[in-house]
Amino acid sequence: MRFTVAIDGPAAAGKGTIGRAVAREYGFAHLDTGLLYRAVGLAALEASDGVIDPVLAERIATELTEDDLARPDLRGSRAARAASKVAALPRVRAALLDFQRRFARREGGAVLDGRDIGTVICPEAEVKLFVTASEETRAARRHAELSAADPALTVGQVLADLRSRDARDSQRADAPLRRADDAVLLDTTELSIDAAVAEATALIRARI
Ligand code: C5P
Repeated sequence: MRFTVAIDGPAAAGKGTIGRAVAREYGFAHLDTGLLYRAVGLAALEASDGVIDPVLAERIATELTEDDLARPDLRGSRAARAASKVAALPRVRAALLDFQRRFARREGGAVLDGRDIGTVICPEAEVKLFVTASEETRAARRHAELSAADPALTVGQVLADLRSRDARDSQRADAPLRRADDAVLLDTTELSIDAAVAEATALIRARI
């Protein structure tokens, strides 16, 4: 059975949590596509003198394997910033396209979360969700995740980081963050994780 669930939305809206939970519920494979851009961004940054070389970033994207997605430091804010820079490069996006499309159509069903899954990667996805939440809620959630490893981090810093990343992701020319016309909007500002997952699960059940 092939069945694709596309989940898009801004940073820290709950896409990953919802994606993992519905994948577990239905036995689907799950891909957090942000990790692809994070892995490319961090590797390109480390190989540079501080300014990312687009040609090098493209080569890293072309050679990326699933093993590269296991680095523990990919979740941090340094990787996030580097990710959103390389994500604006059309050749990097093109190099990562096949991997994502193959993943989406694998036997047994797949959930992909990111920014352009419903619009560019899988416009034919059986279920499309656009997950969002207020900026303050998203910053508080991301701060709770990151502060254990970085106790000096403030909510204000996280908020500033999210804002600049969301602006870059929404304003880039190639595959900007945008809700697909046929995506169901899920605002998680006032929802518990369980309630958000329950809504997503019900939507999939209705279409499976
Ligand atoms: O989702 P996450 O915060 O891990 O994504 C990191 C960055 O990767 C985003 O800010 C965005 O620039 C980029 N990205 C993207 N397209 C995707 C997934 C992530 O451009 N499908």
